[in-house]
Amino acid sequence: MCGIVGIVGREAVATRLVDALKRLEYRGYDSAGVATIDGGRLDRRRAEGKLVNLERKLAETPLPGTIGIAHTRWATHGAPTEANAHPHFVDGVAVVHNGIIENFSEIKDELTAGGAVFATQTDTEIVAQLLAKLRRDGFGRREAMHKMLKRVTGAYALAVIFEDDPSTIMAARSGPPLAIGYGDGEMFLGSDAIALSPFTNEISYLIDGDWAVIGRDGAHIFDLDGNPVERPRQVSQAASYMIDKGNHRHFMEKEIYEQPEVISRALASYVDFLAGRIRPVAGPIDFAVVPGLAISACGTAYLAGLVGKYWFERYARLPVEIDVASEFRYREIPLNPASAALFISQSGETADTLASLRYCREAGLKIGAVVNVRESTIARESDAVFPILAGPEIGVASTKAFTCQLSVLASLAISAGRARGTISEAEEKELVRHLSEMPRIMSRVLNTIQPTIEQLARELAKCRDVLYLGRGTSYPLAMEGALKLKEISYIHAEGYAAGELKHGPIALIDENMPVIVIAPHDRFFEKTVSNMQEVAARGGRIIFITDTRGAAASKLATMATIVMPDVDELITPMIYSLPIQLLAYHTAVFMGTDVDQPRNLAKSVTVE
Ligand code: AGP
Repeated sequence: MCGIVGIVGREAVATRLVDALKRLEYRGYDSAGVATIDGGRLDRRRAEGKLVNLERKLAETPLPGTIGIAHTRWATHGAPTEANAHPHFVDGVAVVHNGIIENFSEIKDELTAGGAVFATQTDTEIVAQLLAKLRRDGFGRREAMHKMLKRVTGAYALAVIFEDDPSTIMAARSGPPLAIGYGDGEMFLGSDAIALSPFTNEISYLIDGDWAVIGRDGAHIFDLDGNPVERPRQVSQAASYMIDKGNHRHFMEKEIYEQPEVISRALASYVDFLAGRIRPVAGPIDFAVVPGLAISACGTAYLAGLVGKYWFERYARLPVEIDVASEFRYREIPLNPASAALFISQSGETADTLASLRYCREAGLKIGAVVNVRESTIARESDAVFPILAGPEIGVASTKAFTCQLSVLASLAISAGRARGTISEAEEKELVRHLSEMPRIMSRVLNTIQPTIEQLARELAKCRDVLYLGRGTSYPLAMEGALKLKEISYIHAEGYAAGELKHGPIALIDENMPVIVIAPHDRFFEKTVSNMQEVAARGGRIIFITDTRGAAASKLATMATIVMPDVDELITPMIYSLPIQLLAYHTAVFMGTDVDQPRNLAKSVTVE
C-alpha cells in the first residue's frame, strides 16, 4: 500500500522525509517522490522503483526547504511510472494520496470540460486539479480543501501543500490511516506510527472524515462539516520495537525466528500458567451465551480464522460462520444480532475486513478484533480488542503474526469452552499445558530443521506447481503453506483438503509437481497416508511433514520427510507453521525474489 509522510519543520526536510519513507517500505510500493517549498517555490523529485533511485536523484539535485510531503506509491490507477508517481503538482498545489478516489472520472470529465489539462493517468491528480480550480475561483486554502473533501468520494489519506503557504500542511483521512506527530517547534504527518517514530512518539490518529491544518506550532483538526474536533494524543509503541533485521538477511527470516519469543509474550497476556487456565476474557463478548460466532478476515489472517473455527466448534461447541472478508459482506448472511463477530487482521487496516466489521456492527453483533496494531482502525471500531503482541511485522508475508493469531484464537476458544461448560477444568489445564510448551518446542524445531529445509528448497525452486494437502486443522495450514510459497517465490501453489484429492486435483499428479503432505500422527493420519499412496501410485513426489510416530508408521518412499516433535493436536498448527514458512522463505531466497517486498504485494491492503 502507499505510504505518506510530511514535515513542517525548522530545518531542511527532504532527507528526513525519505528516511521516514524507508520505514514504510514494508507496505510495498513501486515508485516514490518528495516535494518541498523553498523561497516561495514548490519543487519535487520523483523516481520509479525503490527509494534508492529517489535518493540518487536527490543527491544529484538536492531539494531545499523546511516544509515537504513525500510518498511511496503502490499503483492502483496508472502504471508505476515516474510521471504517475506522487506528489502531483497543479498550479502551485502539491498532493500525495493513499487510497482510491471513486468518483475521479466524473470529476475529471467536469474539470477537463472546464479546460483542465491532465498530465497523468492517476485518480489522485483530480485532487490537485480540483484544489487548483477552487483557488483560481478565489477560495482560500482552507475553504478549497474543505470544498474538495465534500466533493470527492472513496478511500483516501491525503497530504497537501500550497506554494503560497510554506508554513502549513493540510491532511485528510477517510479509510487509509493517517497520524499527526507532535515535535518541538515542528510537526509531522505519517501513514502510521512506524513512519513517525524517527521524529516523535507522541501522535494523534485522524479518524474517517477528519481533516487537519498542520503548522509548526500544532494542528487544528476538523470534521467533514468543518467543526473543530479534538483527537487524543497518545504515546506510540512503534519506536520501542527494533525495526531492523538484526543478523538476518530479511525481515521475514527475522520474524520467523522471533516466533518463540513473541508467542511467549502473547500467551503470557492470555494464559495464567501458574493456575493452568486462560485468564478471564473481559469485555462485552460473553462466549457463555452467544449463539454463534462470525469470523472474517483476508489472506493469512483468514486462514488463522479457519483454524480458529475448528477450535471454537470442537472445544466450545460454538457454531462458526467464516468467510474471506471480500465475500462475507456481500453474501447477505442472515446474522443473529445476539451473536458475536471476530475480525482478524495484522495491520488492522485491511479495507475488506473493516467493511465486513461495519456490516456486522450494522447487524447489531458484538465486535471483537484480533489485531497486531493496537491503534488501528479495526481495533478502534471494535467492542473488544484481543492484541496479538507480535511486534511490528515488516515482511509482507505474514509469519509471526499468523502464529500469534493462532495462539490468541486457541486461548479464546479454550476460554469459550470453559464459559460454556464444554470443557472441564482438568481439560483446560491440559490444553494450557500444551500451549505453554509451544515456545520451547518452536525453538527446538527452528534450531534443527533448517538444513533439511534448505536442501529441499533447492528442489522446490525448480518447480512450477506445488500441491499442499492436509486434514483437520492441517487443511487451513496446507492453504497457508501454499499462500506463503506463491506470494514470495511466485511458484503456483494450491492448498487442498487431503480428502478432496480424488475429487479433482489427483488429475494433476505427475513427477513434476511435488505434493507437500502435512500430517501429524493424529486421528486423520491413516486416511492421509492412503491419500499419499494414491499420489505415489501415480508417480507423484511427496514431501512428508509429520512427527516421529508418523515417520515410523509410514512405509512410503518420499522425496523428503521433515520430522517434527510429537505434540498435542491443539498446537500442531503453530508448530507445523515453521517448516512451511521456512520452505517458502528458502525457496524464494534461492529464486532471488524480493522476499520482504514481493512484486505486486502490499503489507496492508487499505483499498477494496
Ligand atoms: C499474508 O502473508 C499476506 N501478506 C496477506 O494475505 C495478508 O495476510 C492479508 O492481506 C491480510 O492482512 P491483515 O492481516 O493486515 O488484515
